[in-house]
Amino acid sequence: MSLYALVKPAIFKIDPETAHGMTIKALKTGMIKSCKPIESDRLKQRIFNEDFINPVGLSAGFDKNAEVIAPILNLGFGFTEVGTVTPKPQAGNPRPRIFRDPKSESVINRMGFPNGGLRVFKSNITSYLADGNRKGGLVGINIGMNKEQPDPAKDYCHLIKELSEQADYLTVNISSPNTPGLRNLQEKEPLTELIKAMKNALHIASPNFPPALLIKLAPDLSEQQQEEIAQTLMENKVDGVILSNTTLDRPESLPEDFRAQKGGLSGVPVREKSTQIIRNFYKLTDGKLPIIGVGGISNAAHAYEKIKAGASLVQLYTGMIYQGPEIANNINKGLLELLDKDGFNHISEAIGADHK
Ligand SMILES: Cc1cc2nc3c(=O)[nH]c(=O)nc-3n(C[C@H](O)[C@H](O)[C@H](O)COP(=O)(O)O)c2cc1C
Repeated sequence: MSLYALVKPAIFKIDPETAHGMTIKALKTGMIKSCKPIESDRLKQRIFNEDFINPVGLSAGFDKNAEVIAPILNLGFGFTEVGTVTPKPQAGNPRPRIFRDPKSESVINRMGFPNGGLRVFKSNITSYLADGNRKGGLVGINIGMNKEQPDPAKDYCHLIKELSEQADYLTVNISSPNTPGLRNLQEKEPLTELIKAMKNALHIASPNFPPALLIKLAPDLSEQQQEEIAQTLMENKVDGVILSNTTLDRPESLPEDFRAQKGGLSGVPVREKSTQIIRNFYKLTDGKLPIIGVGGISNAAHAYEKIKAGASLVQLYTGMIYQGPEIANNINKGLLELLDKDGFNHISEAIGADHK
């Protein structure tokens, strides 16, 4: 039995957000021990002009203020995506705003981007980079707009200018369901305008080696919306797409009081929906747009399912709540076995294998 399996019942008695705060503290103080990472050339890839040591990342929302980059990477993750950060600090929605349903291994959250704002975030990430403790794991930065901002492009461009030098890649979050109006930026016209403005800002901020610019989408998009967005991303030369954020769906199988909570649903119940949208985007872009697959991954088989559907890299958040801090290592170990089983030498051979 893992150590996490022993402490999990006690953790699950605590309010989820309080438990999260305790976890961040435990990571900061070294109470959660590092794991010896799985190392294999078969899992290494060069994507977005960056070297990923393995394809498993921690997705945005866990480390909103970039406080625990090194401890997360020391758990065997190939990359961590910090944020969502907004220019000004904001409190987010009233608590409670995170809810678990252990039976379905899912979570509903309506956080609304609580974070310490750009100043705190930049100071944290700068001291991480300055410490010289970079060991190979990469750091993506997920940016969002403040709730009261009437002109979204202003916040996104400001954050790009301030953070592009610190990012291995930048993710534009236009898919959280908890900031009013945010998901409307996924419509063709506003999306095109926003991308153009951001590319311009990126060019000014980092003219020589700009980090990759990725867009993170919701899984709740119609087929027509998916087609339009895929075309927009390709036409405007966006570097990649993250599929997906949480869903507004509420499967009947979930307990009634849990289903009634407002917010985005994550974990096992979003898994198939997010895999399907990965499959669609891979097809719509002829496999030419790198995809980071996220949603309901709790083991190697789930990660592999998304890779075969078309994801070059994967991320998870809810899976770590239910499976514990060894999840990245366990998935990487399992991926090597799954590659063996299918006769693939390298992870890149499995990407999009379902389509071949
Ligand atoms: C408590 C919580 C907070 C989250 N906060 C963010 C966030 O700030 N920005 C973001 O892009 N996604 C956020 N997400 C979404 C996750 O990054 C991920 O896309 C989604 O949960 C699906 O993956 P999972 O099923 O592995 O959790 C959050 C998810 C959870 C559960």
